[in-house]
Amino acid sequence: MGRTTVDVHLGMDDIDKALRLDVAAGLTAVPKELPPKWFYDERGSELFDEITGLEEYYQTEAERQILLDNASMLIATARPETIIELGSGTSDKTRAILDAAVAADLRRFVPLDVSEAYLRTSVESLAEEYPSLLVHGVVGDFDHHLPYLPSGDRQLLMLLGGTIGNYRPAERHVLLWAIAARQQPGDHVLIGVDLVKDVARLERAYDDASGVTAAFNKNVLQVVNRQLDADFDLARFDHVARFDTENEWIEMLLRSTADQRVRIEALELDVAFAAGELMRTEVSAKFRKERFERELRAVDLEPVSWLTDRAGDFAVSLSVRR
Ligand code: AVJ
Repeated sequence: MGRTTVDVHLGMDDIDKALRLDVAAGLTAVPKELPPKWFYDERGSELFDEITGLEEYYQTEAERQILLDNASMLIATARPETIIELGSGTSDKTRAILDAAVAADLRRFVPLDVSEAYLRTSVESLAEEYPSLLVHGVVGDFDHHLPYLPSGDRQLLMLLGGTIGNYRPAERHVLLWAIAARQQPGDHVLIGVDLVKDVARLERAYDDASGVTAAFNKNVLQVVNRQLDADFDLARFDHVARFDTENEWIEMLLRSTADQRVRIEALELDVAFAAGELMRTEVSAKFRKERFERELRAVDLEPVSWLTDRAGDFAVSLSVRR
């Protein structure tokens, strides 16, 4: 059994405060908006897992294939002693990389996730699977807690699953900058990005035939109902997913099917929705090689390789800190 340690930078109180702020700001904004990070309660995480297995949602399988096919090349290039994974979840796809890295120089794995329960489970099972490894979990969110990540060692930082797509360009620049800023020259960064493609296929990936993504989208209302004692009626909202060709991102929205008022008791807030009104719940940016590599160079990350699956649906980008 490998050694384990878990730092908690995000307690229940912080999470509750952040949700209150996001809901108060988002529901009083025009147009209304809720940030996607609130999708992932226990039910939402289950639904997301289900999404990753859907025929229409090609991303997870494509990324897994890229990582499996290229793990030894990636590790031979980056030669990490420490691997940091942002938004690790269960660190599922990460095993391909860890297998190759442990066989080389890896001594420490640092998964960072907002969900303490998820993180503790995955820290325990990773330590069991990789007895030589120090598994150092960090409970936190990568908009605030990057400075608390351990330094030292030759590092590889991973941000997989297309998570970076949830950021709009200005915020994405800040995140990439913050990642690069805490690295030493020669450290590497591995990022998974979904690629621009046929609009019909993109929209189907976010509006699957079995309705799992619709349930995932509406689940955010359930989260607000439970956590903030609100009375959203899920039956009076429709799931909408559409590709914005100008910004090259998918957006998910909830459309109010009627004129209605919603009470958010914990905020003492009443919110009116007009029939047909749209509230955005997620953007998921789609990328092109040139643009993404330009964004990396802008923060002193030099692109090293751009790996895609056979169909060219998804890419994994390796870059090195200058
Ligand atoms: C986990 C943010 C990468 O944007 O594709 C899946 C979340 N939303 N289906 C994505 C999601 C709807 C997913 N990310």
